Order: sequence, then structure tokens, then C-alpha cells
Amino acid sequence: MQLTMLKHLKCSTMQKLANNNIQISDAHGGVRVWDPLVRIFHWSLVASFATAWFTSSSRDETHQWIGLIAAALIAFRLLWGFVGSPYARFAQFIRNPRVVFNYIIDILKSREARYVGHNPAGGMMVLALLFGVAGTALSGYLMTTDAWYGEDSMQITHSVFAYGVVLLLPGHIGGVILASVRHKENLVRAMVTGKKSQAQDGDIA
Ligand code: HEM
Ligand code: HEM
Repeated sequence: MQLTMLKHLKCSTMQKLANNNIQISDAHGGVRVWDPLVRIFHWSLVASFATAWFTSSSRDETHQWIGLIAAALIAFRLLWGFVGSPYARFAQFIRNPRVVFNYIIDILKSREARYVGHNPAGGMMVLALLFGVAGTALSGYLMTTDAWYGEDSMQITHSVFAYGVVLLLPGHIGGVILASVRHKENLVRAMVTGKKSQAQDGDIA
């Protein structure tokens, strides 16, 4: 294992991004990007959200327990966004809306840079998904409390959040497929192995 500081980045924004990061490369030239907890978090969140979705009319408490697992996963991820490995940190992938906007323009013009971590649009999507699942779980929990039990407003809030997340998914999965094709890198596999290929000239680490 060797530590590689990025020296080839020229513009100041890129340098700022590079200063926050180190690439940890292995013997095969891959970079460890997603730590094991991020990967376990992601696939457990997918499983718990999908299971909660498909058990939403269960007569026992299965739906509520599975939903609470999703809530616990989100709570962990919020903490990990501050103390986790470099690419897991919010500071690494939450970017100014102007940067996100320019990145989307770059995608439309087929000239977007490859990011080793989440790209600016992907980072926004990550935030939206975390917020959406958190809102779904919180409103679901509130529906079971004395204060909100049987209240239409909370039931509607719960449905709006749950359906909101489902509406985001084509954007999330479409973005993953688009970036995988454009940068010739299987991002789904990277979310399993944790590894991506090392930054080349023009990429942003
Ligand atoms: C309920 C469904 C899903 C939810 C709530 C969800 C949520 C998320 C979140 C929160 C992240 C950020 C990971 C992190 O930094 O901790 C993420 C990343 C990612 N997700 Fe999902 N996801 C879902 C479904 C999927 C599916 C079905 C796929 C596979 C096609 C997928 C592929 C990925 C990949 C590849 C990344 C990394 C993207 C990148 O390289 O920047 N996700 N997802
Ligand atoms: C985060 C994952 C969750 C998802 C995807 C989800 C999704 C849903 C959906 C789609 C419905 C049906 C809404 C409708 O009929 O329009 C529902 C109902 C409900 N959810 Fe959730 N939910 C989640 C978490 C929770 C949690 C954490 C709780 C409570 C601790 C909860 C409690 C309920 C209750 C009590 C109902 C009403 C069931 C009924 O009709 O009897 N949900 N949920």
C-alpha cells in the first residue's frame, strides 16, 4: 500500500478538493474508495427499504421493525459522514450548488470530469436519498405514537416521503449507469468491492 498525494491538479478548485483527500492505492493500481461500513450500509439500506416497501400492508409489526432498521442505518450514516473514512465524509462530496449545476451542464455536454468519490450530482442525490429515507422512517414512527396515531396528516407525510424516495431511484440508478458507461467503470461493482481505478490526468480525486 502506498499513499499518493495528487500533484497534477491545476485549477484552484481541484487543488482544494485534492487537499482534502489522499488516494490509498493497492498493488493492482486500484484505489480503496468505499470502506466496508459504507458498503454494508448501502446494501442493507437497499434491502431494508425494499422490504419495508413490500411489507407496508403487513398486519403484524414486521413493516415497522424493518423500517426502524432503515432508520438506524441512516443514523449510523449521518455519524459516519463526520468521522468515517475520507470518501465517506460529507465534506468530501457535498458541494456548492453552483458546482453541482455546472457539473450537470458538463454532463449534458458530455465533458464531465470523472470523480473518484461521489461526483457533485451524485453527492446531491445521496443527500436527497438520506433525507428521504430519514423522513419516511421518522413519519412512520410518529404514526405509531399517541400524539399522531390515526392522524391523516402524518399518514400522508409518510406516503409522500416513501413515494418520494421511490421517485428518486430512477435518477439514482440512471446516474450510476450513466457514470459507469461514460467513465468505463462498473460503479455497482465498486460499491461491492470498495475499489475504483486510480485517478488519471483530468480526474478529480
Ligand atoms: C432503496 C434503494 C436505494 C437507496 C435508498 C440508495 C441509497 C444510496 C446512498 C445513500 C448512497 C451513498 C452511499 C454512501 O456514501 O454512503 C448510494 C450510493 C450508490 N448506490 Fe444506491 N441506493 C439504492 C439503490 C441502489 C441500487 C439498486 C443500486 C444498483 C444499481 C445502487 C447503486 C449505488 C452505487 C453504485 C452508489 C455509489 C455511487 C457513486 O459511485 O458515487 N443503489 N446509494
Ligand atoms: C423507511 C422505510 C419505510 C418505508 C419504505 C415505508 C413505506 C410505507 C408505505 C408505502 C406505506 C403505505 C402507505 C399508504 O398506504 O399510502 C406505509 C404504511 C405504514 N408505515 Fe411505513 N415505511 C417505512 C418505515 C416505517 C416505520 C419506521 C414505521 C413505524 C415505526 C412505519 C409505520 C407504518 C404504519 C403504521 C403504516 C400504516 C400501515 C397500515 O395501513 O395499517 N413505517 N409505510
